[in-house]
Amino acid sequence: MTDTLSHWDKVYQSKDHTQVSWHQDHATLSFDWTLKYTQKNDTIIDVGAGVSILADNLLDEGYTDLSLLELSPTAIKATQERLKTHTNEVSFYNENILNFQSDTQFDLWHDRAVFHFLTNKKDQKTYISKLNQYLKPQGYFLLATFAPTGPKQCSELDIVQYDKDKITQLLGKGFRLIKTTSETHPHPNGSTQDFNYFLFQKD
Ligand SMILES: C[S@@+](CC[C@H](N)C(=O)[O-])C[C@H]1O[C@@H](n2cnc3c(N)ncnc32)[C@H](O)[C@@H]1O
Repeated sequence: MTDTLSHWDKVYQSKDHTQVSWHQDHATLSFDWTLKYTQKNDTIIDVGAGVSILADNLLDEGYTDLSLLELSPTAIKATQERLKTHTNEVSFYNENILNFQSDTQFDLWHDRAVFHFLTNKKDQKTYISKLNQYLKPQGYFLLATFAPTGPKQCSELDIVQYDKDKITQLLGKGFRLIKTTSETHPHPNGSTQDFNYFLFQKD
């Protein structure tokens, strides 16, 4: 996992954070779905948050209990600096989701373009067991991955593309698909990337 950490940290050290392929000026779909399915004092975790603007969007809306988990120290430091006036509302975890341990259970677990990097069954299983452990009963799993019509790699790493059947089967019986939609994400270089968004509710 050290290799994964170095890979991602190098990306954030070497690139303008607004020029990474996954950059969003506003995390519109994640934001809209979070607003619709949660209360402002719910516990929300953004897994592999990077330098995403989602937390800023939610804080502006009055959310009070956000957790941001991210592997890259450079990315998490940049986000901590950006959100330094919100230390009461945001907890930071600089770690690998596959090793995550917490006393908190979450009402909503958000993952945009992180789970799809887990290309082997063992890591996928570990992630899903963490999700099961730390998501409350009736909690929501909001996941965005590359779609089957999207890229096969991101940041020079292989990814797994998902449609609703594939992800529903992988998550297993304890999760019910509430809704799904596709999004064409504009890459800062002018091209586009097809994403699928999925909202699941845990039993
Ligand atoms: C494509 S970026 C997406 C960032 C953010 N979710 C967004 O939408 O802007 C993937 C992020 O996941 C982080 N990451 C990759 N593998 C991870 C892991 N196993 N645990 C925690 N973070 C991870 C990377 O450092 C990177 O910030």
